[in-house]
Amino acid sequence: MERTLSIIKPDGVAKNVIGEVIKRFETDGIKIAAMKMIHLTKIQAQGFYAVHKERPFFNSLTDFMTSGPIVVMALEGEDVIAKNRKLMGATNFEEAEQGTIRKDYATNIEQNVVHGSDAPETAAFEIGYFFNDLEIQKR
Ligand code: CMP
Repeated sequence: MERTLSIIKPDGVAKNVIGEVIKRFETDGIKIAAMKMIHLTKIQAQGFYAVHKERPFFNSLTDFMTSGPIVVMALEGEDVIAKNRKLMGATNFEEAEQGTIRKDYATNIEQNVVHGSDAPETAAFEIGYFFNDLEIQKR
């Protein structure tokens, strides 16, 4: 059993696709182990995306991520990191497969609806960034 962090970004919340995204997770057999809606501060967004701090898009990305509320979830299931990435599609929605969340709902490479952890180590950091142990359901 594996866990990953999913974020429905401000554009996804504004487009009213929270339910649609969660439906795709549940339809794929993924369980939600923790969930909340929050509005990040700039400092919190910079901390979350610290690995990208040297990238040219860092300032714009952290502005975008603070532009409205987000939904953060700890997802659980077998191979859930890869499963979630497949459901999301490529970071750049123009390269994403048909039927993926980003292909269906992204606006551009930045406003790409969802975030998902890319490896077990990043998943552990990212889940711990938003949830403490008591907030994660154990099955
Ligand atoms: P995410 O999967 O959350 O990881 C980093 C985010 O930076 C990415 O999705 C996009 O929202 C944003 N981003 C903006 N420009 C780029 C870019 N050129 N390459 C990768 N990510 C970008």
